[in-house]
Amino acid sequence: MFEKKRYVMVCTNERVSDHPKGSCAQCNSVEIRTMLKEELEKQNLKGKARILGTTCMDVCEHGAVLCVMPDNIWYGGVQVKDVKEIVDVHLINGKVVERLQIPKENSGLSLFE
Ligand code: FES
Repeated sequence: MFEKKRYVMVCTNERVSDHPKGSCAQCNSVEIRTMLKEELEKQNLKGKARILGTTCMDVCEHGAVLCVMPDNIWYGGVQVKDVKEIVDVHLINGKVVERLQIPKENSGLSLFE
């Protein structure tokens, strides 16, 4: 059951292809953001969760990266095939998709803590 409103911030930063840091856009994050929006619409969750594209959130080595606020849960190595699970497990049921979670000590800054 849907519990509370959340913001899902998806890094869509793009760097040149040979940049040593890489970028989330090179890991299909733009498509991931689009798929998240489509999944919210499909599940009639528009207005209950917002998908936001961001620039680099300084955890590039984990791309594609997204974070769910205000929960301050960071996901890395996210692929298009993970979108439905993130929506179902986290946004609807309020549980963490542990296999994708970036450990707290390696994640980015929280907006709320
Ligand atoms: S490019 Fe996505 S976190 Fe840096």
